[in-house]
Amino acid sequence: MTNRRSFLGLLSAPLAASLVLPRFDGFNAAPALMPADLGPSDDEVFWRQLRKQFTIPADEAFFNTATLGSSPKAVQEAVIASMQHINRDIAQWDYKPDHENYFTGYYPEMPRRDQLATVLNCTGRDLALTQNATFGMNFVANGLDLKAGDEVVVTDQAHPGGRKGYDLRASRDGIVVRQVTVPEPPESPDQLIQMYLEATTPRTRVWAIPHVSSSRAIRYPVKRLCALARERGIWGVVDGAQSLGHLTVDVQDMGCDAFFASPHKWMLAPKGTGLLYVRPERQKELWTTLASSAWDDQSDPMYRLMQYGTGNLSLLIGLGVAVEFHNQIGSARIQQRDVAMADQLRAGLKSISGATIVSPTHPELTCATTVYGLKGKTGGEIQDYLWNKGRVRVRSMGDTVGVRHACHIYNSPAEVDKALGLLKQMAA
Ligand SMILES: Cc1ncc(COP(=O)(O)O)c(C=O)c1O
Repeated sequence: MTNRRSFLGLLSAPLAASLVLPRFDGFNAAPALMPADLGPSDDEVFWRQLRKQFTIPADEAFFNTATLGSSPKAVQEAVIASMQHINRDIAQWDYKPDHENYFTGYYPEMPRRDQLATVLNCTGRDLALTQNATFGMNFVANGLDLKAGDEVVVTDQAHPGGRKGYDLRASRDGIVVRQVTVPEPPESPDQLIQMYLEATTPRTRVWAIPHVSSSRAIRYPVKRLCALARERGIWGVVDGAQSLGHLTVDVQDMGCDAFFASPHKWMLAPKGTGLLYVRPERQKELWTTLASSAWDDQSDPMYRLMQYGTGNLSLLIGLGVAVEFHNQIGSARIQQRDVAMADQLRAGLKSISGATIVSPTHPELTCATTVYGLKGKTGGEIQDYLWNKGRVRVRSMGDTVGVRHACHIYNSPAEVDKALGLLKQMAA
């Protein structure tokens, strides 16, 4: 209460009056542990122990990681501790080289880039730290030397954060954005590949490819698409906002020219963290969009793309803990767990009369997220029913489509069953 009162005292009276501070529990109840602290155990015991490392109340099932992840306690505590340290000890900062820094934006942050690179199988030199996926997409779209008449292929389902930079270049510089229509649902990887090939002309410079699409959760055949793009000298730019953290990502094996992502979704990192990978051979082709002291320092081409001025170091510290948390479980194990729960969900949906899976069901096109509808129910109605009846959080994708249901490591097979039970009730 004392903390709350003194905090409120710092605010203007109207703001203080309107502010209801959230209940902030779970921290003192048990120490924050990392996955490696949980010890060897059989699978379900491990996942149950891991669930306790999250502050989502035990009776709430959170299936909306595709929008925003929930960071484990260790990440939250690291961010909070760093913020407290910086704010408390700032007067001790003498700016000498051996003193730690208290902000980002003026340093290459090499150790942090190296650490993040372990998740993508690249080196830290091939990564720029950004604030989210949208930054990464814009840095590519604005950074390429595209001329009037040059063409970019995008899908009609691309998230604005994976596309709009090209629309801006179309308005400003006269490039041509060719929009392909994705079948609902696509039947096979070949169909998606054909779609890109048919939209390609001698003027095509970029294929903007979602790794997993936002609105339909389609997992694209990115490796084959990137190989075809490369044969044609086209930039294969992969939007990894919905894949990094739930699918294994190996940018070298994928063969992409660029890959951008938002670790605040599936990597469970602090909100406002992002990354952009660019294949070493192509890094120097990109202009930076934001310029500060090292804007043209080609000795570290990706640092040129980190020239955004003062940023929040505490978030990067939390990102480091999130990467460690992820690596201690392992990308392959996470993918297996997440996709198994999604398979369980899809199998259950098939037995509910009136349920339609809107996402693809071809095994190469599925992932841990599923979009589905119920006959005669809007997306909003399904979303609200699941929450009001069972504290199950999925996200509406609009009245006519249905809901998006993303399974991640804090979910359990029992939660999936609970959701299926509620859906069956609603459909009856
Ligand atoms: C496929 C895809 N691309 C890009 C974005 C944008 O992410 P951010 O808002 O973190 O930049 C999203 C967000 O949901 C997304 O799903």
